[in-house]
This record gives sequence, C-alpha cells and structure tokens, in this order.
Amino acid sequence: MKNTLIAPSVLAADFGNLQRDIEMINNSEADWFHIDIMDGVFVPNISYGMPVLEAITKHAKKTVDVHLMIIDPDRYIKTFAELGANILSVHYEACTHLHRTLQAIKAEGMKAGVAINPHTNIDLLEDVINDIDLVCVMSVNPGFGGQSFIENTYAKVKKLKALINRTGATTLIEVDGGVTNKNAKQLVEAGADVLVAGSFVFKAENPVQTIHDLKKLTSF
Ligand code: DX5
Ligand code: ZN
Repeated sequence: MKNTLIAPSVLAADFGNLQRDIEMINNSEADWFHIDIMDGVFVPNISYGMPVLEAITKHAKKTVDVHLMIIDPDRYIKTFAELGANILSVHYEACTHLHRTLQAIKAEGMKAGVAINPHTNIDLLEDVINDIDLVCVMSVNPGFGGQSFIENTYAKVKKLKALINRTGATTLIEVDGGVTNKNAKQLVEAGADVLVAGSFVFKAENPVQTIHDLKKLTSF
C-alpha cells in the first residue's frame, strides 16, 4: 500500500497564531512541515527567515522540510542545520555546483533535496540523481502560495519516476504548488511520494479534516 506523505506549507498559516497552526499540524495526520524561505531575489517575494524557522522548529514534532528559494544557498547550509531543518532543498537554478552543495547538506546531517522550476528539464538531474534524497517538482512558479497548478507536472513526475527506477535511486518525489483534492490522486499515480499543500489546507474550514481526506485519497 502506498503511504503518501502530506506536507502542509506553513506559508499559508496565520502568523498571528503560528503556534496554534503548528499544533494543528502536530495533531493532524500530516507527515512533514514544509517551510518556504524566499529571499526576494531568486523569487519575487520575501517570506520569513531564521527567527521564524527557529520558532517553528521549537514546537514542531514532525520532520521539518525546508525549501530554499534563495540565491547562493551554500552560505546558509550550516545555519539551517543548526535551526533544526531535517531536509534542506535548494533550487537547481540557484546552484552553480549542485553536486558540491548536496554533499555539504549531507555533511551537516540533513537529507538533501533539489527543487526544480516548471521550465527545468528533468533530464538535467540524471548525473546527480543518486545523490539526491528528494526532488521537489514545482507545480507553480515559485514565489507565492495560492497559485494554480500547472498541468504539465504530471508528465514531469512520470519522467522523474522513470529516471529514478532506471538508475535504482531511492529519491523521493515531492510536488509543490497548487495541490488540491482535484489533482492529488493523479499525482500519486504518476509517481509522487510527498504532496505539499498550503492554501488547500489552511484556507479550509477544517484543516485537520482536509489533511485526513488528502491522506486517505492518496493512500491506496
Ligand atoms: C511556492 C511555495 C509553495 C507554496 C504552496 O513558492 O514553494 O510551497 O507555499 O502553496 P499552495 O499550496 O497554496 O500553492
Ligand atoms: Zn515550497
């Protein structure tokens, strides 16, 4: 049976009631916390940084999955490890020496992830796939929550799954952006292992129930 992991994106939480929303995730069937760090350079938006992450990891009782949307991420790998990140994903498009960056993340005791923009070809990961613990396939252009899902994502996930199978890699496939109950099952059928959901969870009347429903819909 497939156990799809659900990772609510804290970007869509109520920051005036952050501890409440973190406890909601702790008490739900969610598997991971997804934390979006944006620098206003790599993406046209600034989210939150170290003090907020520190506050989150203090209360979070589940895996903390940090998605860096920043240029030159190597500068902060050690800091994110110290702040309690368990998985650290960098953008393919932001790394000149991706292989080196992945080794540096692992050397700090974290799982190493690579996020790819909608325009980036999966084939570019072939030579490094065995070094990647998680590929975060962006199903929107990164920078904002609440955007619509890009339909080409299904094809990208299938292509990535084929690459993983062909190379014998153990890489997990995460899909990030515009995930709802309308596309979740099809994404898992295409090969997704982890679904990030921001607005769909936090804008719901009952987020705990919504997480439960997503989990149920994608575990078959
Ligand atoms: C987008 C972020 C996503 C975002 C997802 O740049 O990487 O993680 O928070 O939010 P929704 O689910 O609302 O698209
Ligand atoms: Zn993200």
